[in-house]
Amino acid sequence: MKLGLTTKTIAADGHASREAANCLADGGLVAFPTETVYGLGADATNAEAIARLYEAKGRPSFNPLIAHVSDLAAAKAIARFDEKSLRLAKTFWPGPLTLVLPKTDDCAICDLATAGLDTIAVRVPAHPIALDILRALGKPVVAPSANISGHVSPTTAAHVMADLNERIDMIVDGGPVSVGVESTIVGCFGEMTLLRPGGLPSAEIEAVLGEPLARLPEQIEADQSAPLAPGMLASHYAPRTPVRLNVRAVEAGEALLAFGPAEISGQGSDAMNLSQRGDLVEAAANLFSYLRTLDAKGARRIAVAPIPDTGLGEAINDRLRRAAVPQD
Ligand code: TXA
Ligand code: MG
Repeated sequence: MKLGLTTKTIAADGHASREAANCLADGGLVAFPTETVYGLGADATNAEAIARLYEAKGRPSFNPLIAHVSDLAAAKAIARFDEKSLRLAKTFWPGPLTLVLPKTDDCAICDLATAGLDTIAVRVPAHPIALDILRALGKPVVAPSANISGHVSPTTAAHVMADLNERIDMIVDGGPVSVGVESTIVGCFGEMTLLRPGGLPSAEIEAVLGEPLARLPEQIEADQSAPLAPGMLASHYAPRTPVRLNVRAVEAGEALLAFGPAEISGQGSDAMNLSQRGDLVEAAANLFSYLRTLDAKGARRIAVAPIPDTGLGEAINDRLRRAAVPQD
């Protein structure tokens, strides 16, 4: 279903952030680049805009959104920090880290955006265009990844267009993003807990905290009826083609997503290498666009080579495991 809007793509020149901010102020839906993936923004204080955002994404309304702000001062207006969360914010913002914090008493974010929770997910993105838009609007912007719910996250403006043409008002094209996987999410209520591995390796967070992050028990992660971080829905980052992981030999009819210099036996013509030299940062940046490309080949299955679980490998393997869960 299309919503019949005219989706305008604008280049990220000097006027783009003003135009984008004006559109958001009018209740519009604007996709814009962050360092992790493209986000689909709406004014976080405008319930009608947020309702349209859920509709455009086809997103289950219980899945709350991340509020993007331009700096720590703006974050403090909506969320309560303690010593540890403040240390993380000061160390890693702007950057690919989202903190889930208790809301302030006068938090201006719509309940619809937080799905009625008394916590709020907040981040300061490290992208000049995102920051310019946030400063020009002067309000928090909620922004999930700019894809149809359940599809692969977009890392270029063309990916956004492929999913959301005629469903949103505007796309600011800032070229391909740098990180390529979504932000790392840390729950800062009770124990500091890794809710989603992402663009900031968890080891870097643990080094700053001086202690390990708590992890979600597997059964909570798998429980689709009452998700703690609802985006942890098991089947979420999904190409349409089935996915097989940790493959050492490609089978007939499979397309290969390789990693590193190692040869995989049976490798046919539909093969892409996330990083020939085995660099996890490069692999993260390529992950979603390569999944899209292989998905379009019409192969029986996408076979994925083993990827080390260190650094950004943790986020890459998390997304791949979700992609491998059968779709309904
Ligand atoms: O890198 C990113 O984080 C991108 C860019 C656009 O900033 N955004 C993104 O948003 O990935 P989204 O909506 O695709 O993922 C947000 C995740 C979801 O898993 C959601 O359930 C979780 O954050 N979340 C949001 N608010 C929460 C809360 N109060 N408690 C627990 N989880 C929350
Ligand atoms: Mg998403």
